[in-house]
Amino acid sequence: MAKPVEADVVLSCNEHLPTVDVWLVIDVLRATTVIVRWFELGGRELYPTDTPDAARRLAHDLEQEGRNPLLMGEVNAITPQGFDLGNSPLDLTKELAAARECAVMATTNGTKALLRAAETGVPVFAACIRNASSALGCALSRGSRIGLLCSGRKGRPSWDDTLCAGLLLSLLQRRHPGLRLADSARLALLTWQSSRNDLQASLAGADHAVFLDRVGYRADIAFACIPDAVEAVPELHEVPHGDGMRAVLRRVPPDAMGPRLGTALPLPEPAPVGPPRTERAQTAQNRFASLLQYVKSDADHLFLGGNRHKKSGRARLR
Ligand code: MLT
Repeated sequence: MAKPVEADVVLSCNEHLPTVDVWLVIDVLRATTVIVRWFELGGRELYPTDTPDAARRLAHDLEQEGRNPLLMGEVNAITPQGFDLGNSPLDLTKELAAARECAVMATTNGTKALLRAAETGVPVFAACIRNASSALGCALSRGSRIGLLCSGRKGRPSWDDTLCAGLLLSLLQRRHPGLRLADSARLALLTWQSSRNDLQASLAGADHAVFLDRVGYRADIAFACIPDAVEAVPELHEVPHGDGMRAVLRRVPPDAMGPRLGTALPLPEPAPVGPPRTERAQTAQNRFASLLQYVKSDADHLFLGGNRHKKSGRARLR
């Protein structure tokens, strides 16, 4: 029998990491959005590093090996000295992705979160709002205990990453209505529910979005909040480098993408529980019409708050 699907959310990168089968690492503003963009544009490999110095050293080593890496990233949204690019997804182009064999990246939170997840030894994928359904499909193909690691900001939860975690959970709930959610997962789901009708406005209110707007990156926020704009899902691998091993992201090939989950596009508000009395007196004909409508609108995929209806299930992920 298939194992029940469970989900846990880590709201910021320095928290305790539970045991899971697979991690989806999230940094909507902007690291994982940029990483996904790199692969969407045809980029081949991307090496995440934890500091600008580590990125410079690695880029130097790769150059010595005859490769021509694109060095990109940020510290407080500013392009570090000697880097080719900052951390705006809008600065990446197809031409750049084709011209450079690989990219090396260092950001304040996102690349660190990826490396932290990598230390747990389970599969790790980069997720954001733009690749939500595909990323979740990949995770489901690797295990039943799904961990969502939000990079957060300055060691604390961030609205943007929590919202994206909630979006992923809502997709997971469509597929597994009895899904058992940890408390942090329920918080993420509530964040998503309160945001889905105006995603852009909600995202724009996040601390980091306000900061990015002030320093001239408003367009990045609009870019980051389009659900399922892309199918590209980057997966972390370990490759030998010098005397040790190094993490590198590569795009998951089409035959390893896992189940397709439909679209994450914002859904209409679920109908209030219990229709008004007058609407209950339906004729057989209009009952049939609403059933058809139900099937057409894929209403079984609406968020139903599954765990409240489930009597059993494990308390939370170990
Ligand atoms: C991060 O890793 O903290 C971010 O991606 C920051 C940013 O791009 O502004």
